[in-house]
Amino acid sequence: MPVTDDAARSAGSATARLREQGDLRPRIWPLTACALAGGEISVGGVSLAEIAARYGTPAYVLDEADVRQRCRDYRQAFGDAEIAYAGKAFLCRAMVRLVDEEGLSLDVCSEGELAVASSAGFPADRVLLHGNAKTPGDLRAAMAYGAVRIVLDSAGEIARIAALAQPLARLRQRVLVRVTPDVDAHTHRAVATGVEDQKFGFSLSTGAAADAVRRILAQPELELAGLHCHLGSQITRPEAFETAVRRLAGLMAAVHAEHGVTLPELNLGGGHGVPCTEDDHDYDLAGFAARIRAAVRGACASLRLPAPRITVEPGRAIISRAMVTLYRVVSVKHVAGLRTFVAVDGGMSDNPRSALYGARYSVRAVSRPADPVQLTTVVGRHCEAGDVLAADVALPAGTRPGDLLAVACTGAYHHSMASNYNMVGRPPVVAVRDGAARLLVRRETAADMRQRDVGL
Ligand code: LLP
Repeated sequence: MPVTDDAARSAGSATARLREQGDLRPRIWPLTACALAGGEISVGGVSLAEIAARYGTPAYVLDEADVRQRCRDYRQAFGDAEIAYAGKAFLCRAMVRLVDEEGLSLDVCSEGELAVASSAGFPADRVLLHGNAKTPGDLRAAMAYGAVRIVLDSAGEIARIAALAQPLARLRQRVLVRVTPDVDAHTHRAVATGVEDQKFGFSLSTGAAADAVRRILAQPELELAGLHCHLGSQITRPEAFETAVRRLAGLMAAVHAEHGVTLPELNLGGGHGVPCTEDDHDYDLAGFAARIRAAVRGACASLRLPAPRITVEPGRAIISRAMVTLYRVVSVKHVAGLRTFVAVDGGMSDNPRSALYGARYSVRAVSRPADPVQLTTVVGRHCEAGDVLAADVALPAGTRPGDLLAVACTGAYHHSMASNYNMVGRPPVVAVRDGAARLLVRRETAADMRQRDVGL
């Protein structure tokens, strides 16, 4: 059934979505994605149909060339700044190795992420540990690793870390203070972390951040490397960062005036936005980086401070576009007068972001020519009506069970937030490069799940 005018109108920018069935645009599809004859798609020189046949579906497919290019774009845009990839977006040992090879640092937030980094041999002095509630296990693992920097998030941590550092009797533990600068970056409430009324950081305006600095400087076991802030996610305009920079530079100047200490590092966190659908706003990374670097230089110059080394912690912006999720259609249901549902063999267990944040995605048919198309809602296999992967997307009208679909921009916070809800095993991660595919993370099986269940 071709798209009717009514359907197109009710779907808002449906025309744009219908156009998506045409080209594979590198804005949201991996750099090496190519449309082949007959509706086929290849990534990294490997056909997605071949990946589905070899590894099954659903599967996350990672375009290695795309991630490497994003790492390089960041290094180029930010010059001598430290780029710390936020591992919470997606982490496995191969990713750690890749990030290391590309000269990035690594931001981790648990003993588990530290273990992955360490097992891939990532250098400790390029690791930063975050968390508002670091457990004794997290702290001990970080300190055993070596020269990991710990980003302090609450007053209790100061004495706790000093006490753990003492018996190790080695170099002082390097720490940063996470500051809440009260900057609203206008992101989804669940990820707005720069404002006052949320759980992260030391408030700047109440004096809690300055107080934390005082207490750290009084601890001989600790070395204060600098300040940190993280404003939120999907931020595409530099103004929020510029405001945060001015406020944090103000605190650096106050620290200098009160203690005679010049802080060498200013970590501005991550949260740089990326487009996920054709409708999403994109921005120029080089210009964005230049504004942030100029803000740091300008704020420090006006306060007569030497400019600190900047660190940024992009997660999503490094990995989002590099991965697509490959699904097989299980059933097709036409609800007369309402819509067509195409149900696939994954869903909210491998992509919880639609249900959690109302995130929207672009979908392509992999195994069927696109003409004619109809507006379709792609749903998952889980036992909830809210298990919708993409509403009102253009798919071939003849889509039927057995067909393959690819969803773009599923690299960030998909595998890392995946669950085995309904005891559906988490999908594998398959890397593609130069015409070859290799398995990075295998599929979670029923046997894996049964193994944890020890209580019969
Ligand atoms: N640095 C810190 C301290 C963070 O807390 C985060 C993300 C990042 C860096 C990286 O942010 P990114 O560049 O990836 O936006 N689950 C949510 C995102 C939560 C982000 C948490 N912190 C989502 O799926 O959108």
